[in-house]
Amino acid sequence: MKDAENPTIYLKDYTPPAWLVEDVHLTFRLAPEATRVVSKIRFVPNPATADRRFFLEGEELKLISARIDGVEVKPEVTAEGLTCAVPDDAFTWEAEVEISPATNTALEGLYMSNGMYSTQCEAQGFRKITYYPDRPDVMSVFTVRIESDLPVLLSNGNKVAEGNGFAEWHDPWPKPAYLFALVAGELLNLPGSFTTRSGREVELNVWVRKGDEDKCDFAMEALKKSMTWDEEVYGREYDLDIFNIVAVDDFNMGAMENKGLNIFNSSAVLASPETATDANFERIEAIIAHEYFHNWTGNRITCRDWFQLCLKEGLTVFRDAQFTADMRSEPVKRISDVLDLRGRQFREDGGPLAHPVRPESFQEINNFYTATVYEKGAEVIGMLKRLVGDEAYGRALDLYFERHDGQACTIEDWLKVFEDATGRDLTQFKLWYSQAGTPKVTMTDDWADGTYTLHLKQTLRPTPETAEKKPQVIPFAIGLLDPSGEEVVPTTLLEFTEAEQSFTFEGLAERPIPSPLRGFSAPVILQREVTNADRAFLLAHDTDPFNRWEAGRQLAKSALIGMIDGGQSPDPAYLDGLQRLVTDESLDPAFRALCLGLPSEDDLAQSFVDMGRTPDPQAIWQGRQEMRAALAEVLSADLPRLYAAHRVPGPYSPEAGPAGKRALTGALLSLITLRDQGDTARAQYAAADNMTEQLGALSSLLAADLGSLELGLFADQWAHERLVMDKWFMVQVAHARPDQAAPVAHSLTERADFTMTNPNRFRAVFGALAMNQAGFHHASGAGYQLMADWLMKLDPVNPQTTARMCSAFQTWRRYDADRQGMMQEQLERIAGLKELSRDTGEMVGRILSA
Ligand code: PHE
Ligand code: ZN
Repeated sequence: MKDAENPTIYLKDYTPPAWLVEDVHLTFRLAPEATRVVSKIRFVPNPATADRRFFLEGEELKLISARIDGVEVKPEVTAEGLTCAVPDDAFTWEAEVEISPATNTALEGLYMSNGMYSTQCEAQGFRKITYYPDRPDVMSVFTVRIESDLPVLLSNGNKVAEGNGFAEWHDPWPKPAYLFALVAGELLNLPGSFTTRSGREVELNVWVRKGDEDKCDFAMEALKKSMTWDEEVYGREYDLDIFNIVAVDDFNMGAMENKGLNIFNSSAVLASPETATDANFERIEAIIAHEYFHNWTGNRITCRDWFQLCLKEGLTVFRDAQFTADMRSEPVKRISDVLDLRGRQFREDGGPLAHPVRPESFQEINNFYTATVYEKGAEVIGMLKRLVGDEAYGRALDLYFERHDGQACTIEDWLKVFEDATGRDLTQFKLWYSQAGTPKVTMTDDWADGTYTLHLKQTLRPTPETAEKKPQVIPFAIGLLDPSGEEVVPTTLLEFTEAEQSFTFEGLAERPIPSPLRGFSAPVILQREVTNADRAFLLAHDTDPFNRWEAGRQLAKSALIGMIDGGQSPDPAYLDGLQRLVTDESLDPAFRALCLGLPSEDDLAQSFVDMGRTPDPQAIWQGRQEMRAALAEVLSADLPRLYAAHRVPGPYSPEAGPAGKRALTGALLSLITLRDQGDTARAQYAAADNMTEQLGALSSLLAADLGSLELGLFADQWAHERLVMDKWFMVQVAHARPDQAAPVAHSLTERADFTMTNPNRFRAVFGALAMNQAGFHHASGAGYQLMADWLMKLDPVNPQTTARMCSAFQTWRRYDADRQGMMQEQLERIAGLKELSRDTGEMVGRILSA
């Protein structure tokens, strides 16, 4: 590893910028391998500091010329940037550089994708475009001129001039360089418009390549809904005359909130009933909202430095979750979010990649766009809202926008707003931002003379940055039911702040059954002794939908563990409860679908670790297979009837109602397919007029080791739809039997339509391999080896995506010595790569340090 070359950056070392930027003029003369970028930047001394050192970040740039106040200068240039003698007071910097977008496969800076130019500057990509103080606390007004013969030339803000071969854009809102964007290409637009509540007319566009113009309507509608919602719920209006969204095929992440010019991975915008699933539609709606909401939480109020990333991301994820809950079903959204949190964030928090919501150091900031910063960051905001109440949350947010508009802020600023709006001291609450790891809460209770007492204890494992952890503020929502199923104490929020604390409930006639941590009121691991009878009782009677689902989940888990361990037959309490719930027509089909889902292989592996045992991926896979067979048998009489009753007739609509029914029939179909040799699934496949039902049928068939015919038909039908073919790649690896996962993935990489330069395609294969736990961890080691081979090939091409995918290995310490040895060997092979990227070097180093 090249630690010496990759310095660690610390939050505690923050210093304000020496020079501020008053305004920036950029001219782009676009050419695939020799784009010229001319910059004219007005620098003024920062009155907040006496430091006058001058350093401009710049990477992979060819400096053509530089001038200060019109006089040519010869700066000192290194691989990281340049420095130069500068005047004592304000001056104008001019530079011309040359860059090569066509050969930029890292997809950071200015790059080409399928003939179009596109940029990605967050977090530190602007320095690959020109020399600049590339840090978020330097905000400026940008004016951009693009010279190119391509028909569509876009940048941030409002268009101020255009003519033959050029366009000029001006963004009046000061912004950091990471929000800069430029797009140029042969694009088509779906136009739209929106009138803000103060009467401003906004032009809206979704820009796509030819052939995709029929897949933009849903994104446009989602954008309008987001704009209305932010006005109604947060009082936030849009602030430019135009809002552009562009779809790009090659993109490392989901999407990017560049001011007035959001750039999206095409998978996060394009949708038609034939090509996108219900899950795709829901994800698109959420990402459109997320990026739009950033206009206020991220752009108008930005981050002082990258350690404060959760300031914009945690809040914006929280806002998009509220939006989805309002547009669809609140309990279903909460359950899905908790599944995701436990699946990705708890996994991160429990291993070598654990870090605080606000990290205190990094080598490569791109490695910190994590589930912890995003999803736990959002949970922390949810807890804050629960603690202060909805009304005070609203006042605090108003104060935040009023006080900090136009500024680059910190978590301290954020918390101060809540302290000032509510009078609360948030010193202890702030530990949620600085202590890594998931708190474990142990719950016991007792009962005497009409008084029910709850004893709570919290612990947090030591992690490198904090050995000695302090107790955190845990909002613990609880309700109590009496043995007849009546709720005797409605949801009550306990503030659990000590290492150990007791709470009493008096005047009860009988010993109650507790329903703890309702709505998953805090991101903790709750441990308690509870009988399956009590779980079944909650599954049947709890008024809190989240906890009803949770009770079923816990029952499923304990039944599964019994099966994996000793071949026990599945617990009847679970099977009965599930059957009652699935057939209960008073319940939302989407909720019933979630209840039919079994805990994932990874979740079960973690449960074994929590019991102090070594998980066996093959046995876990086997146990789940047997449980699915048992469910199919117990429900055999209900399945065809329920399936028929919930089929959605008529034209497809992505709305929550019909989507929920399709989720239920999809879950039922996968069980039906285990018993009817695939007849029902084949019929559904043949008749499907939408991707949800087509892919659902194909997945059910593949999961039952059927479906090779349909797999071929699918490829023939969709060969020219990139996003649909990604699904085809993915589904085969996802459903491959453990010994087949690596061979199937390998053979897919040999196809002409497999490419490493498209992150979606790479992830379709290798993301699916990482998710197929029994396949990835197959005792042969073939999964590990194939993954490492390809990460090593990808690293020189695209370091960011390589580094993210290294997390497949993050749980290596959970497993037996053989598997650990094989994974270590592969990690060390990657670490030994010559010219290893900083991104991947840091990730592998952290994973190996466990
Ligand atoms: N800021 C983007 C978002 O949260 C994510 C992103 C980060 C995209 C870095 C690209 C690069 O929506
Ligand atoms: Zn974001």
